Amino acid sequence: MKGVIFDLDGVLLSTDRLHYEAWKKIADKLKVPFDRSVNDRLRGVSREASLEIVLEKYDGRLSKAEKEDLCNEKNEYYKELLHTLSYETINPKVRETLSFLKEKGYRLAVGSSSKNTKTILQRTGLENYFDAVSDGNNIKKSKPDPEVFLKAAEYLFLKPEECFVVEDAEAGIDAAVSGGFRTIGIGPAAGYSKTEYPIKDIVQIKEIAIKNKT
Ligand code: BG6
Ligand code: MG
Repeated sequence: MKGVIFDLDGVLLSTDRLHYEAWKKIADKLKVPFDRSVNDRLRGVSREASLEIVLEKYDGRLSKAEKEDLCNEKNEYYKELLHTLSYETINPKVRETLSFLKEKGYRLAVGSSSKNTKTILQRTGLENYFDAVSDGNNIKKSKPDPEVFLKAAEYLFLKPEECFVVEDAEAGIDAAVSGGFRTIGIGPAAGYSKTEYPIKDIVQIKEIAIKNKT
């Protein structure tokens, strides 16, 4: 194996709470119930698809333009909340793992559905660890489609079968498997039957990487 592609939200840092706060404002405005269990279903899902989930209990119809406005409004709230991120937001084990993988000669990429990926990497000082970034801005189809990871592998000049994908979402593992990648699952994805390497702690990637280096 030669590359590792990291999902962002839920793997390199936890932004669930920020997405939750931003979507909650939209849900409250529309008077639809929204709680942590609905928020958990938004993991790995694009902004537009997330809105459809938020709207499941909405009693009414919205035009395409109204939906676009709601997505933009949510993103404005979310971007405000991103100002709270800093170097300290990142668990030191994440930097330790990324440095280790680079030292061992792995090429590293981010593969995220988020259109805010670059802002988040900059605010947390993570951007220099990665040789490539594939995100919501360069894809047409969101996870579980493999496009975001296929693009990441292409940017790394590697084949899918030469890369691990690290994911916290089942939709992300599905995307990786259908793209021909090998998978490492953390958090909810650790309990998913399609995950090849379930892990509890990000540092466990080090052993997996050493065992499989080519
Ligand atoms: C994913 C998150 O990384 O990005 C989802 O897990 C989110 O919850 C998606 O909806 C899109 O993010 P953004 O920043 O483009 O709204
Ligand atoms: Mg994720």
